[in-house]
Amino acid sequence: MALLNILEFPDPRLRTRAAAVKNIDDSLLALIDDMFETMYAAAGIGLAATQINVHLRLVVMDLSGEGTESLVLINPEVDILDDERERSDEGCLSVPGYYETVERANHIRLRALGRDGKPFELEAKDLLAVCIQHELDHLEGKLFVDYISPLKRTRIRSKLEKKHRLDHQA
Ligand code: NI
Repeated sequence: MALLNILEFPDPRLRTRAAAVKNIDDSLLALIDDMFETMYAAAGIGLAATQINVHLRLVVMDLSGEGTESLVLINPEVDILDDERERSDEGCLSVPGYYETVERANHIRLRALGRDGKPFELEAKDLLAVCIQHELDHLEGKLFVDYISPLKRTRIRSKLEKKHRLDHQA
């Protein structure tokens, strides 16, 4: 297995819309394993393939952060089930160090293929619903900072650009 490099805002590659997965083959399964390893190493609870510069509709998640609730979403789709909305603080491995309040639907149904290629559905509320919507946004080239004020977004962007310049010099 291997740790993959995670793209960070404002990298333009994060704005790519991902294409459907056509084949669940050995290379995709190896990629899924690497994505889990990368997510756990970074102490994240979700990682979309977009974030590691692979533009396929593939997400790994684990709300437990320690391997007990691992979830693979291939070609996921979401339906919003009612009008209830919730505000919660979100972070992202592609926006390291920043947390902002985002409002999203609180009750959704997810349809996806699992690691075994079989379709499954689940209803989600609260943190799981937030995390699924956040990860699916990545597949559309969207980030949680798109929902916050332009002023805050610009400030985060400048700070991360400065960090990237320093990383580059180091
Ligand atoms: Ni994210």
